[in-house]
Parts: sequence; structure tokens; C-alpha cells
Amino acid sequence: MNLVVANWKMHKTRSEVEAFVRDFASRAERIENVEIAIAPAFPFLGAAGDARGRWSVAAQDCGAERAGAFTGEVSAEMIASEGARYVILGHSERRRLFRENVETLSRKLARAREAGLIPIFCVGESEEEKSAGRTAAVLDEQIRSLDGDAPEAELVLAYEPVWAIGTGRNANPEEICGGARHIVERLSNRPLLRVLYGGSVTPDNADELIAQRAIAGFLVGGASLSPESFEKICRSAASAAA
Ligand code: PGA
Repeated sequence: MNLVVANWKMHKTRSEVEAFVRDFASRAERIENVEIAIAPAFPFLGAAGDARGRWSVAAQDCGAERAGAFTGEVSAEMIASEGARYVILGHSERRRLFRENVETLSRKLARAREAGLIPIFCVGESEEEKSAGRTAAVLDEQIRSLDGDAPEAELVLAYEPVWAIGTGRNANPEEICGGARHIVERLSNRPLLRVLYGGSVTPDNADELIAQRAIAGFLVGGASLSPESFEKICRSAASAAA
């Protein structure tokens, strides 16, 4: 089944989270054949959940350490204890703005596994790397964080070309297939791998994007903030699976 993940980034206060959940609950009732996850900011991991299990919750990051004197950090175990199923790791904003590297991310990945969370591990090349023909090399380097991860464990990989995130310039089908196929080949030892695409996914382009057989769903930023547009994207991913 395809998976669609809403990445809310640093958006929505408690009342806004609650309003989304109220509205989306009746919409989710009518969506079948697709798995849905919502990634709110840390304080709302509980509030963004659905008691009836129509969607699950993802955190947007987790600490690299288990516990201790790390002011401001949130551990994978804390996230799991709030009922989350997934954790997004290595989003390009974290890599770029918070300097997360291969080493930090492999530690975060290990913490996520210890806590029983399924990682949604993000990879993607920048505009400069793409024009220099380095896409495959960059993806390989980022995927190195998974070296110590058990290959039989369930894993979600989100291919998000950096130049396509929040820019309205989504990758064309060949670019998506190229990146996604490279990842699938590189991780061919992983039976439980799903590759998502992320970067300016909207209700208008979701049908065309999901038609690319190389991907098994979306990681959606801006267009996931409204229940209506997120519902449409979930439906596109669902119909492709049917
Ligand atoms: P976007 O963000 O859909 O707003 O481009 C995607 C992401 O950053 O995960």
C-alpha cells in the first residue's frame, strides 16, 4: 500500500492542529487503500493522532542520544511513548540548517530503531550537485547512514531533490524515476523498503507523479497544511494503488 506523509514543519499551534484533526477525520473515513501519517511539531504528537487509527503519527526528527543532559532535545523513546509510529530523519532542512551529517544521522537512526520507530529517511541532491552530474554520488553518500541498520527492518526512504522542496518546481518523471531507481538498486537487500517522492507535491500534480511506478507515495510539505488539499493527494496515491 502506498504511504502519504504530511510534514507540517514548524507550522500549526495546538488549536490549528485540533481543527485539522477534526476536519480531516471525516475525510479520512472515505479514503481507502492508502496509508496516511501526519508529522506535527513535537508538542502535538499526541494531539495529531487518531484514536481510530485512520492515520498514524510521525515525528520530524529525534535526538541522537538516548537520554541525559541534552537541553532542548527530544529522544526517540519519548516520541514512541507519545504513540508515534514513524520518525522523519535527515530532512534537507535539518541537514542544511542544523548541519546534520552522515554520522549524526546514523546515530539518530539507531535511536529510532531502539525505540521501535520506523524511519522515514530523506535523501536528495541540491541544484548544484544535480548540474554537476553528482546526483547518484550524493545519494550514495547520504545512504551511508544506513550502513549499520538491519536490512530486514522496515524502512521508508523519501527522495526529495533539494531544488524541488517548497519551490513549486517538482522533479519531472524521469528525474524521479532516476533517483528512486538508484535508491532501490542501492538498497536491493532490503525487502521492506518503500521509496516516497517529496518536493512541491500538490493536488494538481499528484496523479501524474504517482503514476511513476518507482515511487510508493509522497512526503508532502506545504500542500499538507490544508485538510482539503492533503485529502486530494491521499486520494491520488490511493487510486494509483487500486
Ligand atoms: P514541499 O515540502 O511539499 O513544501 O515542497 C516537502 C518537504 O520538505 O518534505
